[in-house]
Amino acid sequence: MQGSKKRIGVLTGGGDCPGLNAAIRAVTKTAMLNYGMEVVGIKDGFVGLIENKYVILSYEDVSGILTDGGTFLGASNKANPFKYADVSGRTKDVSDLLISNVRMLKLDSLVCIGGDGTLTVAYRLYKRGLRIVGVPKTIDNDLMATDTTIGFDSAVITATEAIDKLHTTAQSHHRVMVIEVMGRYAGWLALCSGVAGGGDIIIIPEIPYDIKKVCQIVKERHKRGKRFSIVVISEGARPRGGKIVIKKIIKDSAEPVRLGGIGNKIADDIEAITGLETRVTVLGHLQRGGTPSPFDRMLATRLGTFSCDLAAKGEFGKMAALRGRDIVAVSLKDAVKHNRLVNPRDSMITAAKAVGTSFGV
Ligand code: F6P
Repeated sequence: MQGSKKRIGVLTGGGDCPGLNAAIRAVTKTAMLNYGMEVVGIKDGFVGLIENKYVILSYEDVSGILTDGGTFLGASNKANPFKYADVSGRTKDVSDLLISNVRMLKLDSLVCIGGDGTLTVAYRLYKRGLRIVGVPKTIDNDLMATDTTIGFDSAVITATEAIDKLHTTAQSHHRVMVIEVMGRYAGWLALCSGVAGGGDIIIIPEIPYDIKKVCQIVKERHKRGKRFSIVVISEGARPRGGKIVIKKIIKDSAEPVRLGGIGNKIADDIEAITGLETRVTVLGHLQRGGTPSPFDRMLATRLGTFSCDLAAKGEFGKMAALRGRDIVAVSLKDAVKHNRLVNPRDSMITAAKAVGTSFGV
């Protein structure tokens, strides 16, 4: 029975990533231990609030999940209440239904753990009167107002390990290896894993590439006796004057465009122009799987507990964020204003160039 206890809801929306369970655990334990709240776990992101799928969480439910990948509450990145698809595929606005379900559930507050899609929806719902606090997560690391997001560090580790492995086989077979990584329109994942994995050419959406330059670098390396090259490319990259490659459109998603395929395009072009054998590896959803890194476990714990503090203090419309070494409150509005992209003058790019890495221009 709810009685006089305050009730807090928690949901994970959008694409999953390592560290979500750690964040749910942090919100739930803080709510129970520090504030004596009752915690409602909403299933499958906003779907749970539209279709009334939820579970009252016990302390045991969140005990022992710190290191687990994924989200035990489930997630959905096709759960836009402002454009929700029915069985026939027709989309309609079900935000009124969602809001009345939240009221029926008697939630005093709701913690939304999500990326820009989920948090944009969360911000719109906050403006409609829901008492919402956000927690940033995404392997894309493209949210404004926070230095980094839950899941990014783990994805960088996965991508770096893949690059390390591809390095050895590239060397053995004297091949060009193209590795396509996720990240949507932001190049953070390619940039960081490319630098950490010693990629020879790193191609990011923020710096459209020149295929002639890419091939020139590959050929020069070959001539110098480096008979292999590692090309790390973001799924959102595009050639100068060319277009991004769209894999599919998912109408009812808060982020309808799905990218993918640029790795194959650049590999075909490199092979055709240089005559060197080229292979492609698309890392895909591997980057979202597995156990969270220690950094992500710590970040999720800090952001999760802080978000619960914000909810307890009635500071809604805010997001817990990492700024330098501190966890601070920022406005949800600022967090979702636009995507945080890589600045071509970023110190990571300067450092990469200084050690001979090319950005394909
Ligand atoms: O936003 C996270 C992300 O993994 C992106 O990097 C990628 O473009 C997208 O989600 C993939 O979405 P889905 O899981 O729907 O294929």
